Amino acid sequence: MKITIKNIVKEFESYGAEERRKQEKIFRAVDDVSFTVEEGELVTLLGPSGCGKTTLLRMIAGFEDPTSGDILFGSVRVNDTPPNLRGATMVFQSYAIFPHLSVRENVAFGLRLQKLPPPEIDARIAKVTALVELSGLDDRRPSQLSGGQQQRVALARALIMEPQLLLFDEPLSNLDAKLREQMRIDIRKLQQRLGITSIYVTHDQTEAMSISDNVIVMNAGRLEQMGPPAELYSRPVNRFVASFIGKANFLPDPESGHTIMVRPEAVKLALSGEQTDGFWGRVTRSTYLGGILEYEVETKDAALLVHEQNSFERPPFAVGDAVSIKLLPSGLVKMD
Ligand SMILES: Nc1ncnc2c1ncn2[C@@H]1O[C@H](COP(=O)(O)OP(=O)(O)O)[C@@H](O)[C@H]1O
Ligand SMILES: [Mg+2]
Repeated sequence: MKITIKNIVKEFESYGAEERRKQEKIFRAVDDVSFTVEEGELVTLLGPSGCGKTTLLRMIAGFEDPTSGDILFGSVRVNDTPPNLRGATMVFQSYAIFPHLSVRENVAFGLRLQKLPPPEIDARIAKVTALVELSGLDDRRPSQLSGGQQQRVALARALIMEPQLLLFDEPLSNLDAKLREQMRIDIRKLQQRLGITSIYVTHDQTEAMSISDNVIVMNAGRLEQMGPPAELYSRPVNRFVASFIGKANFLPDPESGHTIMVRPEAVKLALSGEQTDGFWGRVTRSTYLGGILEYEVETKDAALLVHEQNSFERPPFAVGDAVSIKLLPSGLVKMD
C-alpha cells in the first residue's frame, strides 16, 4: 500500500503554563513533513532522540492526531480513520508482549479479538511462527525466551494481522549489538519476501542504512533529506545529514566561499617523498580498528579524519609521520 504524508504538523501545548503565555508554549514536534512510501518499500525515519520520529509514526498509526496536514493510505485520506481500521500494525521496542500468556496466545491475541473461527486462527499461528522461526516454542512463556525470541513474538503478532503497513518503533534497541545485526537482516529479508510496505524508526544510522530502500533524516521535527542510503552518504545536502550519516570532514573552499565535505575514506595519504601532488600534514593520531585504520592528520589550517583499508602489505602510518594528502575529486561535496 502506497503511503503519502502531506505537510504534516504536530504541535504540543505545555500544560500548566499561564493561559496568556500559551502561544509561546506551543512546541512543534513535527514540522511540515511530506514524503511518500511506495508499495512494498521499507522507509526509515532516522534522527537523534527527540526529533519527532515516534510522534510521526504514531500519527501514521492513528494513535495521535496531526495538528494539520494529510495522511493517505493508497488514495484514501485516513486522518479520521481509527487505528484498528487503518490496516497498519506497530512493532514496539518494549515488545509489548503479555508475560502471563504463552507464545501461541500472544501471537493469536489480535485474531481472537476479531473472533475468527479457531481452525483459521490455528492455521495462521502455524504460518507466522514458522515465518519468524519460532516453531516448536508455542507453549513457552515470554520469560522462557531470549530477547531475540521475544522480539520475534512481537513481530509474529504484528504479521498475523496480515497488515497492509508495518510500523516499527526502534524494535531492536533492547537487544545486544550482535543480535541486533542478525535481527535487522532477518526483518529485512522477511519484509522483502512478504512485500509489506513498512516504516521503520531508529536513531542508529547503520541500522537505517542496512535495512532501508529509502532513509529520511529528521532533525528538530523537520525532514532534512530523503533518499537511498548510498545517496545520503555520498551526496548529503547539508552538514547535519553529512555528520549524522557517518563521519565527515568539512573544509573551506577558498574559490566558492562554500564548504566542502569529504568522507574520511576519500582522503588518501602517502609518506612524504612517495608523491608530491597533494598538500601536506602530520599524523597526530593512529587508531587500529581491525578492518580499517583511522588517522587524524593536522595540516596548517585543518584537522582531517582519514580512513584507510588495512592492507596487510605495509605498516600503518605512525604518529608524527609527515604525509602528503590527496582528496579524491569524486568524493568532494559542496555545501553551504
Ligand atoms: N504527548 C506529548 N506532549 C508534549 N510533548 C511531547 C509529547 N510527545 C512527544 N513530545 C515531545 O515531542 C518531541 C518529539 O518526541 P518523539 O517523537 O518521541 O521523538 P523521537 O521518537 O524522535 O525520540 C520531544 O521533544 C518530546 O518531548
Ligand atoms: Mg522515539
